[in-house]
Amino acid sequence: METLQWTEKISVNNEKIDDQHKKLIDLTNELILHSNAAPNSQIVNETLYELLKYTKYHFQDEEELMEKFNYPKLDEHKKKHREFVRQIAMFCEDVIEGKATVTNEILKFLTEWITQHTSIEDMDYKNYI
Ligand code: FEO
Repeated sequence: METLQWTEKISVNNEKIDDQHKKLIDLTNELILHSNAAPNSQIVNETLYELLKYTKYHFQDEEELMEKFNYPKLDEHKKKHREFVRQIAMFCEDVIEGKATVTNEILKFLTEWITQHTSIEDMDYKNYI
């Protein structure tokens, strides 16, 4: 599976948020690289959990920023965040309980969601902040 890349095209012109997006992309790439080398290893599971924790942290910062600038689609955006967190938490739970492994299907979901969200939905608030 191909790794993701942060480019200026997905910059929201806010250094803190851009750095957080870079970190999210780095964690996703780590997950891809580890899962290719050692599927279902402890490092894969830990990286997935780290991705969940960092995603929550990023969403909270981003939502505070959107709120501060009265972004009109905040509620809609928050719903998308919540649904993504719910999905990753579900993957984490299944992986920790041994009911699932980090499959290509999970990685595909994560990479497509992050790509779509950072390049379309996050771009939508860029002019408000
Ligand atoms: Fe950067 Fe809406 O997540």
